[in-house]
Amino acid sequence: MKAAYSSPELWLIILHLPLLALSSDCDNRNVFLACNTLQASLGRSIIQDNHGPDYQSTITGAWNLFNTQFQPTCIVFPRQSSHVQVAMQSIYTFDVNYAVQAGGHSAMKGWNNVNDGILISFKFMNNISYNPSKDTIILEPAVRWGESVTALESQGVSPVGGRVDDVGTGLLLGGGLSFLSPTHGYAADNYVELDVVLVDGTLVTATASNEYSDLFRALKGGANRFGVVTRYEVRAIHTGSLIDKTWFGGSIAYPNTSFDAVAQAVSRYTRDVSDPNAAILVYFAAIALPDASLTNLAIANLYYNGTSQLPENIFGEFLSIPSIPESTMLTSLSWPDIAFSLTEPLPSDGHGQTFACTVLAGDEDDSLYVDVVREWTNFTTSFRQEFNTSVLAFTPIPVSQIMIGRERGGNAFDSNHSSVIVPYNQIHVQVTLPLGVPQMSPEMEEGRQLFIKQAPRSLGFPLYINECDAEQNVFETYGQYEFLKQTYMKYDPTRFNIRRTAGPPGL
Ligand SMILES: Cc1cc2nc3c(=O)[nH]c(=O)nc-3n(C[C@H](O)[C@H](O)[C@H](O)COP(=O)(O)OP(=O)(O)OC[C@H]3O[C@@H](n4cnc5c(N)ncnc54)[C@H](O)[C@@H]3O)c2cc1C
Ligand SMILES: *[C@@H]1O[C@H](CO)[C@@H](O)[C@H](O)[C@H]1NC(C)=O
Ligand SMILES: *[C@@H]1O[C@H](CO)[C@@H](O)[C@H](O)[C@H]1NC(C)=O
Ligand SMILES: *[C@@H]1O[C@H](CO)[C@@H](O)[C@H](O)[C@H]1NC(C)=O
Ligand SMILES: *[C@@H]1O[C@H](CO)[C@@H](O)[C@H](O)[C@H]1NC(C)=O
Ligand SMILES: *[C@@H]1O[C@H](CO)[C@@H](O)[C@H](O)[C@H]1NC(C)=O
Ligand SMILES: *[C@@H]1O[C@H](CO)[C@@H](O)[C@H](O)[C@H]1NC(C)=O
Repeated sequence: MKAAYSSPELWLIILHLPLLALSSDCDNRNVFLACNTLQASLGRSIIQDNHGPDYQSTITGAWNLFNTQFQPTCIVFPRQSSHVQVAMQSIYTFDVNYAVQAGGHSAMKGWNNVNDGILISFKFMNNISYNPSKDTIILEPAVRWGESVTALESQGVSPVGGRVDDVGTGLLLGGGLSFLSPTHGYAADNYVELDVVLVDGTLVTATASNEYSDLFRALKGGANRFGVVTRYEVRAIHTGSLIDKTWFGGSIAYPNTSFDAVAQAVSRYTRDVSDPNAAILVYFAAIALPDASLTNLAIANLYYNGTSQLPENIFGEFLSIPSIPESTMLTSLSWPDIAFSLTEPLPSDGHGQTFACTVLAGDEDDSLYVDVVREWTNFTTSFRQEFNTSVLAFTPIPVSQIMIGRERGGNAFDSNHSSVIVPYNQIHVQVTLPLGVPQMSPEMEEGRQLFIKQAPRSLGFPLYINECDAEQNVFETYGQYEFLKQTYMKYDPTRFNIRRTAGPPGL
C-alpha cells in the first residue's frame, strides 16, 4: 500500500480528480447546449428530449435489453442527410458523446445508445427503391431486411442483406452474411455508392473509383467508426418473386447425441464445398426449461439454388446424420420464402443479450470444430440456471465469396495474402438472459470470457465484427488493418469517434 501511495501515477490521478469532475459537468452543459441549439434550428419533431412523442419508444425499441438502459439528452430523428449534417456539426463543435441507431440489433452494450449524449435515430428514414436503369437498390438506414424483400418482391429483386428479417442496415457496415453471399459476396461487397456524413458534418458520396474510394472500402467492415451513412446504393440481385421456386432446402434438426457428427460435417463442408449455389447456416442451441434443465439441439439450414433436391455430393453428410425426422422440413423455395423462413427468433426484445465470436479455417482439423461445440456445451451446462437460450452458429465462407470481395476492389477484412485463398468459418455465440434480467452475473461473464479465450481460433482469418464481443479486438484480425488505421486517421484526424462514441477498439 505504501508503495502505491508514493507512485507518481497515483498522485497524478489524485491531482486531476477535481478537474475530471469539472470536465464531466462541462460535458453535461455542452450536451444541453448542443440539444438546445439543434432544437432551435431543426425543430421539436426532429430534435426530441425525453418528453418528445418518439423518445420512449425509441429507447425501449432496441433489441438488446442492455441497450434500452440509456437516457440520451436528446434524440435526433433525421428525415434527410442535411439533418444529420447539422446534428454532427453540433455534436462535433460542442464535443459531446453520441450514438447512431438504425435497426437497433447491436448486441454490444452502448454501441447504439448513449447516456448524457445525443442519439441519432434513423427511425423515419426508411425508404426503399429499385432503380432499373442502374440495376441498383437504394436503402435508407432504417430499412430492415424483411421489409426490403417485401417491398421489392414484385420487381423480382433483393439486396444482399442478412438472414433474419428484423435486422437492419448496420449489418452492412460490418460485412454482412446472407444466404446469397456464396454467389454474391458479403453484403458490403455489393455497395455501389454511399452517402456519408463525416464527423464534422461534411457530406460526401463515396464510390469504388472516386476520391473517397478509401472511405468506401473502409466502410466494408469498419463498422460505426468512419462516419454516419445516410444512404446505401447497392447492387440489385435478381432473386425472383414469390412464385419463382428456384431453390430447394429448409432445415434439419438433430438431437444432442449427433453434435460431434454435425460439427465434423460443418468442418468438411467448409473445407470441401466450393459450389456457390449452396448456402448453409448450422447452429447449436441450448434452451433453458422452466425446471432449469436444458434442451439441446442442432439445426442445419441447407439451401441450394437451381435443383429440385439437395445434391448428395454437397449435403450427403448432413442428410445421413441421425436427425429428428418430425422436425425436418425440406421443400422447393423461392428467395422470399427463404428470406422469411428465419423470422426474428423468440426470445427477442426485452432480453439482455451478448455476442462473442471465433473463426476457424477450412483447412483445420475437424476436431477443432468439435472442440468449439464441446466448450460451448460445457459453458451452457455450467450456467444453465442463468440464461434463457444460447446459440452457437457456424457460417462457412467459401472461396467464391472471398473472390467477389477482391474483384470489387476489396473490403477491410479480407486477408492480404493473394496467393492461396483458404475458405473459413465465422463462428458466433449468443447468450440470451431470461426476460427482464438487467445484467449478466459476474460468474457467468467470467465463464463467457473463458470460452472466448479457450475456443480454438485460426490466426490470419478475420473475426466477424457484427457478431463478436465488444472487447474482442476484431480490427486487429483484419488483413487490411494498416489500411484501416491510415484511413481512419485521414477521415477522423482528431479521433473524435474513438473519444465520443462507443464501438470497436483497435483503431
Ligand atoms: C437476431 C439477429 C440476427 C442476426 N443475423 C445476422 C445475419 O444473418 N447476418 C449478419 O451478417 N449479421 C447478423 N446479425 C448481426 C447484425 O449484423 C448486427 O447486429 C448489426 O450490427 C445490426 O444492425 P442494425 O442496424 O440492426 O443495428 P444497430 O444497433 O442500429 O446498428 C449496429 C451498429 O452500426 C452502427 N450504425 C448503424 N447504422 C449506421 C449508420 N447509418 N452510420 C453509421 N453507423 C451506423 C450503430 O451505431 C451500431 O454500432 C444478427 C443479429 C441479430 C440480433
Ligand atoms: C423513395 O425514393 C424514391 C426514389 O428516390 C422516390 O421516388 C420516393 O418518392 C421516395 N418515397 C418516399 C416516401 O420518400
Ligand atoms: C439461381 O440460379 C439461377 C440459374 O440456375 C440463376 O439464374 C439465378 O441468378 C440464381 N439466383 C441467385 C439469387 O443467384
Ligand atoms: C443430451 O442432453 C441430455 C439432457 O440435457 C443430457 O442428459 C445428455 O447427457 C446429453 N447427451 C450428450 C451426448 O451430450
Ligand atoms: C425464454 O424467453 C421466452 C420469450 O420471452 C419465454 O417465452 C420463455 O418462457 C423463456 N424461458 C425461460 C426458461 O425463461
Ligand atoms: C467448463 O466451464 C467451467 C465454468 O466456466 C470452467 O470452470 C471449466 O474450466 C470448463 N471446463 C473446460 C474443460 O473447459
Ligand atoms: C497483412 O496482414 C497481416 C496480418 O494478417 C499484417 O501483419 C501485415 O502487416 C499485412 N500487410 C500489409 C501489406 O498490409
